[in-house]
Amino acid sequence: MEIQGCVALVTGGNRGIGEGFVDELLAQGAAKIYVAARKLADGEAAAARDARLVPIALDVTDEGQVAAAAELAGDVNLLVNNAGAFSMQTLLGAPSLAALRAEIETNYIGLVSMVRAFAPVLKANGGGCVVNVLSAGAIVSVPGMGGYSPSKFAARAASDALRAELAPQGTHVAALIVGSVDTRMAAHVTHVKKSSPQDIGKAGLLAARHSINEHDTDAHAISVRAHLARDPGGLAAAMAQAVQGGK
Ligand SMILES: NC(=O)c1ccc[n+]([C@@H]2O[C@H](COP(=O)([O-])OP(=O)(O)OC[C@H]3O[C@@H](n4cnc5c(N)ncnc54)[C@H](OP(=O)(O)O)[C@@H]3O)[C@@H](O)[C@H]2O)c1
Repeated sequence: MEIQGCVALVTGGNRGIGEGFVDELLAQGAAKIYVAARKLADGEAAAARDARLVPIALDVTDEGQVAAAAELAGDVNLLVNNAGAFSMQTLLGAPSLAALRAEIETNYIGLVSMVRAFAPVLKANGGGCVVNVLSAGAIVSVPGMGGYSPSKFAARAASDALRAELAPQGTHVAALIVGSVDTRMAAHVTHVKKSSPQDIGKAGLLAARHSINEHDTDAHAISVRAHLARDPGGLAAAMAQAVQGGK
């Protein structure tokens, strides 16, 4: 698909990788970008810098807000499912299932909910593309990441299923395997070189432009994929070490 002149919506567009997508969409000539943020004030602050940016309030776990977003943003032909939750708790050590539920609700169910709501919008606008921001934690289950890896595995499987379901209407689904990026979510990661949020935006738009099914966006993701091929058992331990800062 063409990025120049497209109309995009980026969930969690107020900061981190979402903001990187917004920056790259602006740089590549998008006509309009809905900056979706849980708190409208955050979206408004992020959207103040360019007239092409439109802030909207959107918590992807709130089905009412998801439906309202699809109603309001009826001109979208590029949906970037970027919003993500990572609680940094373990499956057994977490005091309750609350963190795991938030990760599954945001990273998996929220993503599917967005695609269900926006599928008719994308169809009406010529097909377009969905870009799902996943993780290296979607191809290797990382000890210490609690419910995060399982939620990203589910989102990866859903990306494949949704790609097949949306193919008849000409909508492509690109899944991004993201390694390490310099954002608040990865503040605890110290053993790995981190990419910039805008570099991930650039890689994601490349996947949309060329209809790539699954794209490793950065050096860390590429090295995880290679490590997975040659030493799957050792990889989980190495990833856990990177996530926990070597502890
Ligand atoms: N950073 C990395 O190294 C890395 C690596 C692999 C994958 N990823 C993925 O990249 C995506 C973006 O992460 P990031 O690194 O940019 O993290 P971040 O800086 O923590 O930003 C997360 C964004 O998601 C939003 N969000 C969280 N829950 C939401 C919900 N229920 N509804 C709507 N928005 C919600 C946050 O909104 P608030 O501002 O309101 O909190 C924020 O805008 C995530 O899907 C993450 O899993 C990141």
